[in-house]
Amino acid sequence: HPFIQPPQVEWASGALTKGPLLRKSTRIRDLIGIFADDPARQRLAGEHVVYDVEILATSPAEGELYTGVTHLYPGRVGDEYFMTRGHFHARREQGEVYFGLRGNGLLLLQNEQGQARLESVCAGSIHIIPGFTAHRLINTGSEVLSALAVWPGVAGHDYAALAKGFTLRVFEENQQIQVREAQNE
Ligand code: F6R
Ligand code: ZN
Repeated sequence: HPFIQPPQVEWASGALTKGPLLRKSTRIRDLIGIFADDPARQRLAGEHVVYDVEILATSPAEGELYTGVTHLYPGRVGDEYFMTRGHFHARREQGEVYFGLRGNGLLLLQNEQGQARLESVCAGSIHIIPGFTAHRLINTGSEVLSALAVWPGVAGHDYAALAKGFTLRVFEENQQIQVREAQNE
């Protein structure tokens, strides 16, 4: 019988295979204004990749879901851990689910009132991101942090709404994870 071979995720690494994939790399030079210490960012190699995203190329129609994997590499800009840009969904009411696959980090969640919370991300963790909630991954470990995500095709991204940024930042200080209130930027 000609069974359909669906796409696959290799759980241990997050590698997506057998599917039509879209890939995007985000580099140090792309992350202007994201980290607290921009001069420290400018001292790093601009072409250094901070995170890679792979998305199964599926339909964006109303009701359909996207599946993607983010690989966030270990590193810091100054003392601040590497992180994704972070976004609200353009369609604010649309939620998302993240599943930790490997590595250790944090998921920063923030509502429209600017109230933030942090969830630990590790292999097997499940993160329910409600609607109206901005989200950002932070790699606090020394390994790659990989997470699988499923979100509505109609959700879209709104990066500009976070122009003022998240209200919390995460740094390494004396080999410890330090959470600080962001300065009014
Ligand atoms: C999709 C989603 C993830 C992120 C990815 C990169 O809604 O949340 O696939 O898009 O982790 O982060 P951003 O988009 O903030 O650069
Ligand atoms: Zn999202």
